[in-house]
Amino acid sequence: MPLVPMRLLLDHAAANSYGLAAFNVNNMEQIQAIMEAAKETDSPVIIQASRGARSYSQDAYLRHLMLAAAELYPAIPIAMHQDHGNSPGTCKSAIEQNFTSVMMDGSLKEDGKTPADYNYNVSVTRQVVDMAHPLGISVEGELGCLGSLESGMGEAEDGHGAEGKLDHSMLLTDPAQAEDFVRRTKVDALAVAIGTSHGAYKFTRKPTGEVLAMDRIAEIHKRLPNTHLVMHGSSSVPQELQDVINKFGGKMKQTWGVPVEEIQRGIKNGVRKINVDTDNRMAMTGAIRKVLTEGPEKFDPRDYLKPARDAMKKVCIARMTSFGQAGNASKIKPVGAREFARFYSS
Ligand code: G3H
Ligand code: 13P
Ligand code: ZN
Repeated sequence: MPLVPMRLLLDHAAANSYGLAAFNVNNMEQIQAIMEAAKETDSPVIIQASRGARSYSQDAYLRHLMLAAAELYPAIPIAMHQDHGNSPGTCKSAIEQNFTSVMMDGSLKEDGKTPADYNYNVSVTRQVVDMAHPLGISVEGELGCLGSLESGMGEAEDGHGAEGKLDHSMLLTDPAQAEDFVRRTKVDALAVAIGTSHGAYKFTRKPTGEVLAMDRIAEIHKRLPNTHLVMHGSSSVPQELQDVINKFGGKMKQTWGVPVEEIQRGIKNGVRKINVDTDNRMAMTGAIRKVLTEGPEKFDPRDYLKPARDAMKKVCIARMTSFGQAGNASKIKPVGAREFARFYSS
């Protein structure tokens, strides 16, 4: 099966009221974990790579790993997505590397740190849509900055995120502006700011509506019922994964993520793509710590990478099942990007 545009998967998810996890990858074991989970649950797949991931793994390795996944799992539709593209140039290079979907994150300037103004965001996002849609490539935009409503801090825990303190108006997507943004840019999917942030340290206690603004999603969905909404920073940071890491020598501070039941509420209100990276990172790290703590004599990477891959697969199966994407891969008729271009021209 060819890699498919993300829009094809999002449309199927919307028509059948489910959500799709979008898992970040940097290496072969992570791709293998996702594909095995997808096979076991008959799930369509969104795999995404950040700029950091592309530079870590190198585009050529990543491109061939994705071709291998498509070859080995012909029954699974797979979309390959650029996560947090910082410029039209980054999105263009992703398309040249066989990605079938790109995110133009114009909520921040090209440095990936400075909040951008609205007109800049509209302009760069529209530029990417004009480049991508004629090729059948899907585009995700972002309006509002990720960051904590608890502390007001933007988030710079990983490669892309606003630095310093932001006011609430920047940390929450404005529903009226969202409507204008989608009309002017024609994006396929819209990432919204609702108080989530990347990484493990999202909330200092189990989140309530003041710090995780799920109601905002419902308001945006009411105005934009046909736009696929995206939740970033949506790892749940399960207690058991924190415990495994800490039991085997780790030093993670107690923290809370986005509860799966809140994500399920989002799915009922138009969320179709849910970004998950941290949970998988934690699952792999916990498994590796366990193997090396219990068997300090071990030095064959397969001894710890295999349990790490299995631990990530378990998380992927759990998310695929609770978001409702399980059971849907075999129901989707694959369409390659070139053929899909007609969808935008008609
Ligand atoms: O954008 C957030 C993802 O978790 C990717 O993080 O930039 O460290 O690869 P990264
Ligand atoms: P987490 O850090 O919560 O897994 O979020 C990942 C993400 O949003 C990638 O874009
Ligand atoms: Zn993100």
